[in-house]
Amino acid sequence: MAIMLFPKNFLWGAAASAPQTEGHSSTNGKSPSIWDKWFEIAPDKFYQRQGPENTSDVYDLYLEDVANMAKLGLNSYRTSIAWTRLMPDGVHVNPEAVTFYRQYFQALLDHHIEPIINLFHFDMPWWLMARGGWESREAVSKFANYAQVAFEQFGDLVKRWVTFNEPLVQVKAGYLYGFHYPAVVNFRKAVQVGYHMLLAHTFAVQAFRQANIAGGQIGIILDVTPVYAKTESASDQRAQRAADLLNIRSFLDPAVLGHVPDDLLELLEVNQLTPISLLGDGAAIAAYTVDFIGLNYYRPKRVQAPTKPATPAKMPNELYEDYEWPARRINPYRGWEIYPEALYDVAIMMRDQYGNIPWFVSENGMGVANEARFKDASGHINDQYRIDFMKEHLQYLHKGIAAGSNCFGYHTWTFVDCWSWLNGYHNRYGLYSVDLDHHYQRQVKQSGLWFKQLITDNGF
Ligand code: NOJ
Repeated sequence: MAIMLFPKNFLWGAAASAPQTEGHSSTNGKSPSIWDKWFEIAPDKFYQRQGPENTSDVYDLYLEDVANMAKLGLNSYRTSIAWTRLMPDGVHVNPEAVTFYRQYFQALLDHHIEPIINLFHFDMPWWLMARGGWESREAVSKFANYAQVAFEQFGDLVKRWVTFNEPLVQVKAGYLYGFHYPAVVNFRKAVQVGYHMLLAHTFAVQAFRQANIAGGQIGIILDVTPVYAKTESASDQRAQRAADLLNIRSFLDPAVLGHVPDDLLELLEVNQLTPISLLGDGAAIAAYTVDFIGLNYYRPKRVQAPTKPATPAKMPNELYEDYEWPARRINPYRGWEIYPEALYDVAIMMRDQYGNIPWFVSENGMGVANEARFKDASGHINDQYRIDFMKEHLQYLHKGIAAGSNCFGYHTWTFVDCWSWLNGYHNRYGLYSVDLDHHYQRQVKQSGLWFKQLITDNGF
């Protein structure tokens, strides 16, 4: 008997993305994304030289995966469309891609699994990157056009749409910290890129409103790293505020409330970092807000006032510095802090600061390195640690819902172990394992069986 019940019609599911699962990245009419090219140029950057070419071969195996999702009782599933598959040259529509995605989404619907479809998951087309990528304003209209095509092609099957997954991760990884292509380290460019992504999101929402999809809703998925200050001191609090503005409010405020926070603009201005002009864009940002929000939560962010000398290119270091909380709990298999309490804080933030807009946990999960070591005698991975991780997070989410937060679902990352960018298959997150040496064979983990029970009971 479940004691912690979730609301009726709660969405239970999992999330993934096209570039991390589909494989066939250079076939069936697809053109290269930055990931395909980067792997070609610098394969040694990738863990065990695992590239995006095959990943978990969902292109061939989606029917099997959908059947497994149905077995566990999932009622929703999020993945993305690869822009480079649907519109390889950015102009023409690839009929093979239309057939593939239509069959995939229809298979989900046939199994009573709602497809939640995201338009962009870190996979900038190479042809557009060659013209400046998100640094160029041209990318904004190209993206809005692609969004419109996707709505036309799939709007009869897909009702819940997402413009971007974790835009800020792409800004930070690609233009501040150097671990995604183009690996530029330049805060000024990062601001420009972030601003263009925000506009691309805005004009995709506009295209969505114009497409008038019956029963359709659109949202954005953001990584939420609640920011906790080291102390109550004024300087630590200032650092907390800067980190919160840059990492959370920079997208959440415009997407939900329709404007870039004034104090963020001020912060950029004071640091002479405003290469952007909101002139003419403010009205669109105000007009095209979202219907719902997805929040990916893995770990909190803890900050203190800067202690080290600033590096001019990496401006955030002047504003705040990461700090290791001595009382932190660590995932021993991945190194990240585990702090489920934050989900309650996030729920309350959505309730009180964002008009209690409908939102869901669009990713939460536990990455584990070398997970094959946890196989039991039956050949299943016995991942009790992942079950405990999800339970703890769900407890705090439940507490937030009980306090009135408008959360409509929980998705774990991910259904079948998938490819994780430069980390390849190093850290596994799935409810199913994938055996790369044996034709991508899938096998349910203990966490998958637990998830099934969770859904059956609508709680635990
Ligand atoms: C966030 C991203 O959406 C996804 O691409 C990534 O692999 C997972 N988190 C796991 O880190």
